[in-house]
Amino acid sequence: MRHLLSTRELDRATAVGILDVAEDMADVADREIKKLPTLRGKTVVNLFFEDSTRTRTSFEVAAKRLSSDLVNFSAKGSSLSKGESLKDTAQTLAAMGADAVVIRHASSGAAQVLAQSNWIDAAIINAGDGTHEHPTQALLDAFTMRRRIHGRASRGHDLDGLRVTIVGDILHSRVARSNVWLLQALGASVHLVAPATLLPSELANWPVTVGYDLDEAIRQSPDAIMMLRIQAERMSAAYFPNAREYGRQWGLDDERLARLGPDTMVMHPGPMNRGLEISAGAADSSRSTVLEQVANGVSIRMAVLYLLLASETVA
Ligand code: NCD
Repeated sequence: MRHLLSTRELDRATAVGILDVAEDMADVADREIKKLPTLRGKTVVNLFFEDSTRTRTSFEVAAKRLSSDLVNFSAKGSSLSKGESLKDTAQTLAAMGADAVVIRHASSGAAQVLAQSNWIDAAIINAGDGTHEHPTQALLDAFTMRRRIHGRASRGHDLDGLRVTIVGDILHSRVARSNVWLLQALGASVHLVAPATLLPSELANWPVTVGYDLDEAIRQSPDAIMMLRIQAERMSAAYFPNAREYGRQWGLDDERLARLGPDTMVMHPGPMNRGLEISAGAADSSRSTVLEQVANGVSIRMAVLYLLLASETVA
């Protein structure tokens, strides 16, 4: 593995291998000195063309725990056209000796463009490209599910037989896309629930089942329910009547929470619109994995940086 662009390219063995390395990295987080010398002398660049707090910070913490140098290159607000600015910026980063570039960009395919270009010879990690993919998010979600199920004995396990329901703004969600492919590789089954207006047209080719009724999906008692943020910033038209109506039909409120099984994991990639797609009660309940997801994000990103920069071969 030279880059991490998409979960679609990960087979079961590779995915389980990444999760297992992340387990080793999580052990480091439990130590008093949370640092390994592994990437000393390497330079990781965070190249974010879109706003982000948690993903950018998570990569920063991960890189620093592996003793690499980390440069935050915030490219937002550039007046150059996107193609030009990506090329110019990549060449600049290459000249500075970047070993890995973590890129977030509003255009689907931006990470792949960088990886296939001859502008820069670095490991490229996709941290979210438009509505396309966000592979480290799906990996941290899978890691979180595996840990809730198997605890400290997680190593080697996939997610065979797990039933995961993903709810909400699938259309604009790179998190949903990355999860669909990764969960399939790990043996889980995926059910999508959304208003018809928030489902993509390419859905027919996805390995999922689809429903439109959240209450019906809750009756099926999934092992995990993943609530997605309404991505208002990507919406150019009205996809549902209003926020209150959306919440009433598609939101995980306290009453729906009470109907979920006691062990159903309630997941959300963040940032949450509390009171819209998820109630405060659901977000803060003992079923919620939201903060575990954040903590596990660091372990996953350490694992990915380690596998791309420190070892020649991946599982
Ligand atoms: C996700 C993203 O940016 O795609 N968030 C994240 O990585 N923390 C999901 C979202 O923005 O809703």
